[in-house]
Amino acid sequence: MTSQSQASSNRFAIVILAAGKGTRLKSKMAKVLHRIAGLPLLVHVITAAREVSPAEDIFCVIGHQADQVRAETSSLGTRFVEQTEQKGTGHALLQCRQALAGYEQVLVLSGDVPLIRPETMARLRDFHLARKAAMTILTAEPADPSEYGRIVRGPGDGGDEVTAIVEQKQASAEQAAIREINSGIYAFDVKALFARIERLETANPHGEYYLTDMAAILRGDGQRVLALKAAEVAEVMGVNTRRELVALDRLLRAHKAARLMDNGVTIYRPESCVIDAQVTVGADTVIEPFVQLLGATTIGENCRIRSYSVLTNARIADGVTIRHACIAEDVVIGSGAVVGPFSHLRPGSDLGDGAHVGNFVETKKARIGRGSKANHLTYLGDVEIGEGVNIGAGTITCNYDGVDKHQTVIEDGVFIGSDTTLVAPVTVGKGAYVGAGSCITKPVPPDSLAFSRPPQLVKEGWAAKRREKRKKKS
Ligand code: UD1
Ligand code: CA
Repeated sequence: MTSQSQASSNRFAIVILAAGKGTRLKSKMAKVLHRIAGLPLLVHVITAAREVSPAEDIFCVIGHQADQVRAETSSLGTRFVEQTEQKGTGHALLQCRQALAGYEQVLVLSGDVPLIRPETMARLRDFHLARKAAMTILTAEPADPSEYGRIVRGPGDGGDEVTAIVEQKQASAEQAAIREINSGIYAFDVKALFARIERLETANPHGEYYLTDMAAILRGDGQRVLALKAAEVAEVMGVNTRRELVALDRLLRAHKAARLMDNGVTIYRPESCVIDAQVTVGADTVIEPFVQLLGATTIGENCRIRSYSVLTNARIADGVTIRHACIAEDVVIGSGAVVGPFSHLRPGSDLGDGAHVGNFVETKKARIGRGSKANHLTYLGDVEIGEGVNIGAGTITCNYDGVDKHQTVIEDGVFIGSDTTLVAPVTVGKGAYVGAGSCITKPVPPDSLAFSRPPQLVKEGWAAKRREKRKKKS
């Protein structure tokens, strides 16, 4: 702690409570790993927190399925504190006593309140510091306050005073009528908090240590406890049920689509599209109804993504047309390429500029060179295809011998006739022709013609005689 910046950043920590099971989701998976807009709830919270504090000042309290939670978030660089038994939100924060020893103030977030914005965290922190409060609670007035803790205000501190937070199950009729709710997001003075946190008791319907009780404890000791209202209700909405999960997913995706449209993307019927948080799309691209853009998909300018296509981790350059109902995952598509309808591009497919892949074509680990075409009914797996190649309808790379996968190489300018099987490993040399219906098992030298098909048999007049015979019988 020699430098000024380290000293000052060490004063303020962020704790994210994420150890709970999420009983109301009725899931085997920890609540904070459930996804909205394609990312786990906790990742949304950490990403926002990192805009406010460096990752080393952010502590995630994990417990339920700690290993999985760690695995899915460790790349974000935060620290972890384990709460081995989940005895409530107050107990969760208590586990951070050691970790927070070097800090003066702490912002407490909830792993299941995913839409919190960095601006709001900063506003809460600044308000809390400026007003020298021991505890500041971020609050809101949602249309339906039931299921949330209610904020009981006092007359002091210019109307900002809070005397208690009362949980729904313990609220009197009068308290249940209070519209203002506790977001589960707070700022605390670290010393004031840990001097009293062990006074929390479990005399409540869940038998848990409620962090919310700190409001009354601190206030009772004459400490300043304040409320600050969030600007947007959605930011403080929690996820406790599947309905809440999908409601927030929908909201995030609506925001996402709106931002893309603001940046020049046309999305017809955006409510029917599913676009993940990380997706980027260039200006003048048109996205038709019922398209899904998932994961780390990036799409260039001037593309058209037609209806019913599902693209996952696809890297798509400018001017690409994805026709109806294509499925693509972990693929690269060069500029001006045309794909579909009904193409299945599996991981490792890499289409060069201007390549065409058409109806009922499946590709996997397939590099397809600039301007090459495979337009109909084809399987291309473990294959390297050069530039300007034409792959006829019904071509199949036989890449699998039942044990191992083998590579096919098709060099520049090759013409593969329809209904060809290429038994890998095999190479078709530059500029060669392969006749329709061939089964290619040996190397085809450059500029040659290869075909393997039984000679054609012709019996003249056979059909006419047959018809004659049938007529006589009847
Ligand atoms: C909590 C608040 C409530 C508030 C609401 C806002 C309490 C007692 N109540 O209720 O006033 O309106 O949030 O969303 O705090 N967690 C742990 N360890 C535990 C228990 C919980 O880490 O032992 C974590 C959970 O993973 C979750 C967060 O704390 O991310 C909140 O817990 P949850 O059980 O969802 O609290 P609520 O009932 O929603
Ligand atoms: Ca909750």
